[in-house]
Amino acid sequence: MSDVVVVYHSGYGHTRVMAEAVALGVERHVGSTCRLISVEDVNTQWERLHRADAIIFGAPTYMGSASASFKHFMEATSAFYLAQPWRDKLAAGFTNSGCLCGDKLNTLLQMAVFAAQHSMIWVGLDLLPARSSTGLFDGQLNRLGSSLGAMAQSNVEQSPDDAPPPEDRSTAAHLGERVARLAERLHHSPL
Ligand SMILES: Cc1cc2nc3c(=O)[nH]c(=O)nc-3n(C[C@H](O)[C@H](O)[C@H](O)COP(=O)(O)O)c2cc1C
Repeated sequence: MSDVVVVYHSGYGHTRVMAEAVALGVERHVGSTCRLISVEDVNTQWERLHRADAIIFGAPTYMGSASASFKHFMEATSAFYLAQPWRDKLAAGFTNSGCLCGDKLNTLLQMAVFAAQHSMIWVGLDLLPARSSTGLFDGQLNRLGSSLGAMAQSNVEQSPDDAPPPEDRSTAAHLGERVARLAERLHHSPL
């Protein structure tokens, strides 16, 4: 029964697919709710964020770091940094890029440091890397072998209907479910 918010940016729709997959995963945990907020709409939603048990951040990787629109959101939170309203909330992150690597670990690192600035508790991905001897991953989670958060890769010539692939969407859902489960333990279980 945890209350999770996903704040994300997506320029061309591929990272939005990941955000939707995270939300599906959150809601797989019975009684948990998930609200998706695009960074374009966040200025009217700060109170909603302050109420959440957990906030999951999502951004495409542009030029080896979080997109400028997501960075704009990060900097906007400096308005309440001194009050620390996100202290002890859970935080997690996901990112998506065109290349298999694409330097997207840097985007997750940015998010984790940002969460630490707000005294949040970072939740990584509790999945071993997928293994393949053929290049096909057949539905395995964590295709890209990430630990800090959920990674996705979207071929740039494919639409968000087709990219990122199902393995990456399922990995995002797994992260959402994990955050919802841990948020319930942290915020809604008797000590
Ligand atoms: C300005 C810009 C910079 C990009 N930089 C990178 C990059 O550094 N590494 C990479 O692998 N892909 C890069 N890409 C590709 C995007 O990460 C990829 O197309 C992603 O799916 C876009 O997500 P979106 O549809 O949610 O915007 C870049 C795309 C744009 C538009």
